[in-house]
Amino acid sequence: MTQTLKLTYRVCHRVRWAPELGASLGSRGVCSAPRSLGDIPGPSTPGFLAELFCKGGLSRLHELQLQGAARFGPVWLASFGTVRTVYLAAPALIEQLLRQEGPLPERCSFSPWTEHRRQRQRACGLLTAEGEEWQRLRSLLAPLLLRPQAAAGYAGTLDSVVRDLVRRLRRQREQAAGPPALVRDVAGEFYKFGLESIAAVLLGSRLGCLEAEVPPDTETFIRAVGSVFVSTLLTMAMPNWLHRLVPGPWGRLCRDWDQMFAFAQQHVERREAEVAMRTHGKPEGDVAPGVHLTYFLFREKLSAPSILGNVTELLLAGVDTVSNTLSWALYELSRHPDIQMALHSEITAALGPSSCAHLPATALSQLPLLKAVVKEVLRLYPVVPGNSRVPDKDIHVGDYIIPKSTLVTLCHYATSRDPAQFPEPNSFRPARWLGEGPAPHPFASLPFGFGKRSCMGKRLAELQLQMALAQILTHFEVRPEPGAAPIRPMTRTVLVPERSINLQFVDR
Ligand code: HEM
Repeated sequence: MTQTLKLTYRVCHRVRWAPELGASLGSRGVCSAPRSLGDIPGPSTPGFLAELFCKGGLSRLHELQLQGAARFGPVWLASFGTVRTVYLAAPALIEQLLRQEGPLPERCSFSPWTEHRRQRQRACGLLTAEGEEWQRLRSLLAPLLLRPQAAAGYAGTLDSVVRDLVRRLRRQREQAAGPPALVRDVAGEFYKFGLESIAAVLLGSRLGCLEAEVPPDTETFIRAVGSVFVSTLLTMAMPNWLHRLVPGPWGRLCRDWDQMFAFAQQHVERREAEVAMRTHGKPEGDVAPGVHLTYFLFREKLSAPSILGNVTELLLAGVDTVSNTLSWALYELSRHPDIQMALHSEITAALGPSSCAHLPATALSQLPLLKAVVKEVLRLYPVVPGNSRVPDKDIHVGDYIIPKSTLVTLCHYATSRDPAQFPEPNSFRPARWLGEGPAPHPFASLPFGFGKRSCMGKRLAELQLQMALAQILTHFEVRPEPGAAPIRPMTRTVLVPERSINLQFVDR
């Protein structure tokens, strides 16, 4: 089976830039008629569910990608509850699919998040919107978030949040019992950092999540984000009739989204009132201090429900993503002191003699090891381990024709841990991004997705990660908790650490 997989990879590599040709080549490189959905191998539904159950349930979904690829090859079909999906686990096939995207790519046609918006008569934000509504939102938000200059414009705001994070880490390590300088559950600290950062960018004001006393509504928001991710996969898998018998997961999902909307509404209204007071009677261009993304959305005349939908979804998107990546980065660096030392040297050399200064965003983005560390962390722990697409027309992928409207799951976790792409795939080796060894297929690690529907927060997230890592490593040497066992990732819709990561932050 591994042999077949390798052969398929080789063929797919050869046809990388000619998807139409690849479509008509069989996995042995021989021309053959494309086959239909019914020909795709895969487990029976009871078999798949039994396997899922035996492996530890939905939290191990990312590992099932590896097992599916090993058993069936790079394309298989399986039903996960009521959801039938084609899995793609080869970079060339993922590329082939994504390059055939239409103008309005769709991620998932039956998301419980969209159903929540429909039932509560709420407007969708960019994450959940589809079709022309999505396109309008995307074209409004992209210049504000995705352009490199726009993201760099938030560096000053982020800098003050990062300083507060460093102060909070100092405070937390003084309070923890156990080994010296230990901070327990660093992800919990970084969730606060994630929310504080994204709120500062969106609302132009500080929430106070990194203060000694954390505002209770921010704790509620962070809890709701974690909880909504837990119930999402479950509600997707359950048939409608089962929701009536077991209402818990759907009820929890709605409660969590309602709490997030209420939180966002309160803060948007407060900021709107403040800006209205400050800008009263002034010309439009004269509002520079404290401008924030939501202000621009108001100026673009986006409706109030739509602004609320977008702010809520962007706040959610900002919490788990950057935080888990930062947790994994420090976890790996603490276990690889040689790499941490090299990174520290790179950062201090760029800072020059005043080691407490702050590097401008553009300088940070040019530090090769820092960039490689972030890439390697996202390869090992892709926040979104399995993304999806619903093609708007019949498409060729490898040997098959995938009909329009089929849900296709892109197995990013499997491709980014594939030894054919990344030798010693489970090892943390940032040097592989610095020219050591053969270059992987460009679609083997796609942490921010691809194309028109790719991550809207990519630039902001990279900036946050680079700034936080640079400051943390300038102030502390990060060490693992003495005697702590290795920590595995688990799926909670997004990939998170299976248990708390505790680390020592020792003063430099
Ligand atoms: C390490 C951090 C992050 C990672 C790895 C990440 C990853 C992703 C991925 C894989 C997607 C799906 C892309 C696709 O379907 O092709 C996505 C979408 C999205 N992300 Fe992120 N994300 C991160 C941080 C953020 C942040 C901080 C924000 C907030 C500004 C954000 C906002 C969004 C939005 C709004 C979408 C939906 C875009 C659309 O559908 O047009 N992300 N992200």
